[in-house]
Order: sequence, then C-alpha cells, then structure tokens
Amino acid sequence: MKYVMAALLAVGGLSLAAGGRGHGAEGRPVIIADSVKTDPETGLAVDANLPLIKAHCTACHSSKLILQNKFTREGWLGKIRWMQKNHKLWDLGPSEPTVLDYLVKYYGPVKQPFDGRRRPLEKVEWYKLTRK
Ligand code: HEC
Repeated sequence: MKYVMAALLAVGGLSLAAGGRGHGAEGRPVIIADSVKTDPETGLAVDANLPLIKAHCTACHSSKLILQNKFTREGWLGKIRWMQKNHKLWDLGPSEPTVLDYLVKYYGPVKQPFDGRRRPLEKVEWYKLTRK
C-alpha cells in the first residue's frame, strides 16, 4: 500500500509539473522574451535584410528613431512619405516593400495577450467638475 501511494504521488507530482509548464500563476501564459539578436552598431534586429535597412535608414539619423517607434505598415509608410516630402529621403524603389516588411516585423505594434492588469474602463460616464 505504501508503495502504491508513493507511486500515485509521484505520478500526480509529474502531471502537476507538466501542467504547470509554460504557465505562470493562475494559468496565465508566460510571455517568454524573444531571442531576436541585435546589431551591436545600430541596435537594429539582425535579419537578412538588415544591410538594406542600414543603407536606407541610418544615413541621415540615428537608428534610435526607428528603435523607439512601433508603427503599423501604413504608419511606417506614412513616415517614409513624410521624410520623402520634407527631408529629402529618396525613392526606395523596389526595396520599399522589403523595408516595410522588416520595419513591421520588428518594429510593428505588439499584440499582447491580456497581461492580468485591470482592463481599461469601458463606457465611462464622465461628469463635469463644477467649481464652487
Ligand atoms: C535623407 C535623410 C533621411 C533618411 C535616409 C531617412 N530619414 Fe528618417 N528622418 C529624417 C529626418 C530629417 C527626420 C526628422 C528628424 C528629427 O525630427 O529630428 C527623420 C525622422 C524619422 C523618424 C521619426 C519620425 C517622427 O515622427 O518622429 C523615423 C521613425 C524615421 N525617420 C525612420 C526612418 C526610416 C525607417 C528610414 C528608412 C526607410 C529613414 N528614416 C531614412 C531623414 C531621413
């Protein structure tokens, strides 16, 4: 009997351990830090297209302007058009879609699952503060 109990406990323990893998407290999925390598010179994500990005996007300003932003594809395209209109950025030609792919892949909006913080309030009925 002692041995049966021990065996059951061991099995139970194992399945608990297995069930717990990849989940934080309360079964929420754990967001594991991604393993994108960054270029030591610019801090940009290492990718087959990095040389293209460096050539087109670090000639005038620091890569930090890219690193500190997260835009959608339309957002990045808007920035490119804006620089073309106002800051003498050249026509990226056939490289443009590749540049956009790269920008959105690494510097696009991040979709995160609900992280356990309070959800934003919905349909709040604000009232005017009146001064007495
Ligand atoms: C010909 C010069 C030039 C090139 C090449 C260039 N930019 Fe810019 N970019 C500018 C200038 C000028 C600014 C404005 C800098 C400032 O406000 O200090 C700017 C600003 C930005 C900003 C900040 C925009 C904002 O709203 O604050 C981002 C993001 C950016 N560039 C990304 C890029 C990307 C991505 C590329 C490659 C496709 C690129 N830049 C290539 C000249 C350039």
